Amino acid sequence: MSGRKRATENQVTDPRPGSGKLEELERRDQAAAEGGGAERRQKQHAAGKLSARERIELLLDPETFEELDRLVVHRCEEFGMAKQRIASDGIVSGYGRIDGRLVYVFAQDFTVFGGSLSEANAEKICKVMDLAMKNGAPVIGLNDSGGARIQEGVMSLKGYADVFLRNTLASGVIPQISAIMGPCAGGAVYSPAITDFVFMTKDTSYMFVTGPDVIRSVTHEEVTKEGLGGSRTHSTTSGVAHFVAADDQECLAMIRELLSFLPGNNLDDPPRRATSDPWDRAEERLNHLIPAEPMQPYDIKDIIRLVVDEGYFFEVQEHYAKNLVVGFARLAGQPVGMVANQPAVLAGVLDINASDKGARFVRFCDCFNIPLITFEDVPGFLPGTQQEFGGIIRHGAKLLYAFAEATVPKITVITRKAYGGAYCVMASKHIRTDVNYAYPTAEIAVMGPEGAVNIVHRRELAAAKDADAERARQVADFRERYANPWIAAERGWIDAVIEPRLTRPKLIAALQMLANKRDTNPPKKHGNMPL
Ligand code: HXC
Repeated sequence: MSGRKRATENQVTDPRPGSGKLEELERRDQAAAEGGGAERRQKQHAAGKLSARERIELLLDPETFEELDRLVVHRCEEFGMAKQRIASDGIVSGYGRIDGRLVYVFAQDFTVFGGSLSEANAEKICKVMDLAMKNGAPVIGLNDSGGARIQEGVMSLKGYADVFLRNTLASGVIPQISAIMGPCAGGAVYSPAITDFVFMTKDTSYMFVTGPDVIRSVTHEEVTKEGLGGSRTHSTTSGVAHFVAADDQECLAMIRELLSFLPGNNLDDPPRRATSDPWDRAEERLNHLIPAEPMQPYDIKDIIRLVVDEGYFFEVQEHYAKNLVVGFARLAGQPVGMVANQPAVLAGVLDINASDKGARFVRFCDCFNIPLITFEDVPGFLPGTQQEFGGIIRHGAKLLYAFAEATVPKITVITRKAYGGAYCVMASKHIRTDVNYAYPTAEIAVMGPEGAVNIVHRRELAAAKDADAERARQVADFRERYANPWIAAERGWIDAVIEPRLTRPKLIAALQMLANKRDTNPPKKHGNMPL
């Protein structure tokens, strides 16, 4: 379909001259194309935003967009609305192709009643979502809206709820992607929030449940729209946004890129991409990347990039909970989801935000048949009252639950530390990980040598003449005896201790061995994950 040349509206020749039917179609089509008119379109451009139709053109492969419901108008009679019926009613929707693969799309048109959601245009969204579910293809929503169409009252709220229901039912069946490219406020935020990935554009988008004015009157806090719900806030502090783009163009290109890793639905496999990167590429630098000193940081992304096809890693939530790195890459052309502790940030410790981030990503990959590769270097969970009061128990449990319930191929590489509960959580053998590797530098134990010695040898340390010397001796002894991969390897919980330079071939061999993996969870309505 992508190469097909279509007649534009004004190239159509009327088979029945004089009937006027084609002129009528042309007039109606033109009115829809006009949206809120040239002046409002200009305002949109002046604000650094593209129009809804321009966005769809850029998002999809050329000439593949098939619009639905172009002639839909609202049915509101109040507030003089009967005189203001604009075809398409503030949403452009339909289907098309990205890299030749089917997708469904809707884009709110801010030039028509501020892109606000009416009963009629909510039905347009529902129509493409229903089609997407029946045909097993992703839905992409481009949001730019003043929220509920005020003139329509509860009819608009009903429209939102209809969309929310579909978002929920589609979750885990088809990938759902939201781009916030303008305002997204009030209950409207909950549709993107249910979808799998949220993109935001820098400086032109914001999301919040209640805006700065309401906040001022209720809590007396002063905050700007940007500070409250701009892309920076949501990508670094709240974790609501997964990706930030410099502008509309970059945002749409990033959505295309993300889709290149994803299957159309939960029964499909993710698309493979041919690569010239040899599957058996050994990488000498990996043998020297882990510092000899256990407290010294290194960047886990260096390991990821040295291992994956062409060094290409598409990171998700790059700016949020940086102590855990998640994202997509390919190994011998096969898309994989990467989950990695980041020793360069907070020593790679697991905290509330990292647990949330990891759990959601692991569950996404499991929904959509994307194998999980875990790189582990974790000293444990972050101690402190802030974490305990915030519910690290509940949040940490999410990551544990997500890894444990995942049935996709799971492969773990312990690069250095794997301590305590975090060892169990980070895709250990005991929670159904298929292949567990460790580097010779791995330290697998209940806790770090210093902490362990202070507890186990408390009495000896208290009695020692030179407590520091005794502690140093005991720590060295503990490290030698327990902080290593050998004990776990002797039990078979580490399948192989590998030379780091061979990480790529080892991962690819394991992935290929697991290509037909089938595993299931016990039949149930659904689990009760600790939310
Ligand atoms: C109808 C709306 C509208 C809305 C904007 N417009 N929001 N029309 N319903 N919700 C119209 C404006 O009247 C204006 O029409 C045009 O869109 C552009 O709006 P401007 O205000 O001129 O644009 P701008 O200055 O950029 O401000 C954008 C805005 C502001 C910040 C979004 O319009 C705004 O605050 N709108 C109201 C937001 C709101 O409170 N929505 C309800 C939230 S509650 P003209 O004809 O002048 O071009 C909600 C509940 C959802 O949504 C619940 C779901 C469960």
